[in-house]
Amino acid sequence: MERSFVMVKPDGVQRGLIGEIVSRFEKKGLKLVAARFEELSDARVQEQYREHIEKPFFPGLKTYIMSGPVFLMVWEGNNVVKIIRSLIGATNPAEALSGTIRGDFAVDIGRNVIHASDSPESAEREIGIHFRNEELVSYSGIADSMIYE
Ligand code: RTP
Ligand code: MG
Repeated sequence: MERSFVMVKPDGVQRGLIGEIVSRFEKKGLKLVAARFEELSDARVQEQYREHIEKPFFPGLKTYIMSGPVFLMVWEGNNVVKIIRSLIGATNPAEALSGTIRGDFAVDIGRNVIHASDSPESAEREIGIHFRNEELVSYSGIADSMIYE
């Protein structure tokens, strides 16, 4: 089973969207295998967004992500990385389709509510930054045979 790392950003937390986001993933049929609520350190934000460190928007991105607590999660399912990217919508909320999380709940690219891994490789890397192996819970879902053929 594939896994994806997801983070409700500080604006999503403050706007009371954690429950809505978790609910959408649950209803889709994805399985939650880890979660933690905390404020990220400078070092962890740099690790998480290392591909963007040289970009002009990075200082603003770091201030934004460190402006309050974030809700970190790991979700599991077949093709979960691709599925979650389609549920969250385009990076710029102005381009995100209605029905996606960014399309429904965000306006500005610098306040786009949620992060999700963009490939299975980044998912493995990002999960490793934020969670220890023993924090990832393994269990069989009682509806698995209703979700998977
Ligand atoms: P994320 O990593 O947060 O899931 O977002 P993403 O893959 O959709 O987009 P990415 O290119 O990885 O950008 C990371 C985050 O940086 C902020 N950003 N601001 N002002 C800008 O031009 C700009 N570009 C990116 C966004 O918060 C974006 O989610
Ligand atoms: Mg990204």
